[in-house]
Amino acid sequence: MELVEAIKGRRSVRKFKAQDVPREKLEKILDLALWAPSGMNRQEWYFVIVRGQKKEELLKIFASAFETFRPNLEKVFSGKAKILEGMKHFFQTYGGAPVFILAYAGKSASGQWDTHSTAVALENLFLAAYAEGLGTVWSDGILVKEPEINALMGIEEKKLVAVVPVGYPDEVPRVPPRREGRVQWVGF
Ligand SMILES: Cc1cc2nc3c(=O)[nH]c(=O)nc-3n(C[C@H](O)[C@H](O)[C@H](O)COP(=O)(O)O)c2cc1C
Repeated sequence: MELVEAIKGRRSVRKFKAQDVPREKLEKILDLALWAPSGMNRQEWYFVIVRGQKKEELLKIFASAFETFRPNLEKVFSGKAKILEGMKHFFQTYGGAPVFILAYAGKSASGQWDTHSTAVALENLFLAAYAEGLGTVWSDGILVKEPEINALMGIEEKKLVAVVPVGYPDEVPRVPPRREGRVQWVGF
């Protein structure tokens, strides 16, 4: 796939087919994620690929995250019950994705969580997944449940950056237009 087509064609996917994803495909996209640049080349990124029973247990935690947000969301989307229902459904199902990838950051040389490096690796992963016919979406609403997620997965001393459901897309997401005024040219 052409690079421009991958960058412009990738969309966030929130509805997936039940079809499983071959491990080789996952290995391929993870390998490409690890070729991203990183702070001081420390490569302080960690990915946990989950399916099966643990995935179902994670889903229960994600569903409970919605209840944490509900009061705030009800205010923001007051009178928009359909949107609220859609969000609840997503938290409860994660779009039916057969695989979850938990993306973690380690620490930079100065002792800060290096979430930047994990983020650029994730973009590599998103593009690589798209080139393989797979859908992904960055989700971080569930970070309110990070302690529970880490306890379930046995992860310590790493910062959860995002949870990424992965699977074959079962929707064609709309293309969000790019906003104006985000680039400033100087000396041209
Ligand atoms: C830092 C970050 C956080 C995001 N968090 C969520 C999220 O919690 N739930 C979700 O459905 N999408 C989330 N997204 C996806 C964005 O909503 C999506 O990228 C945006 O609407 C543009 O759509 P596109 O990815 O199809 O171009 C997130 C994306 C980024 C980069």
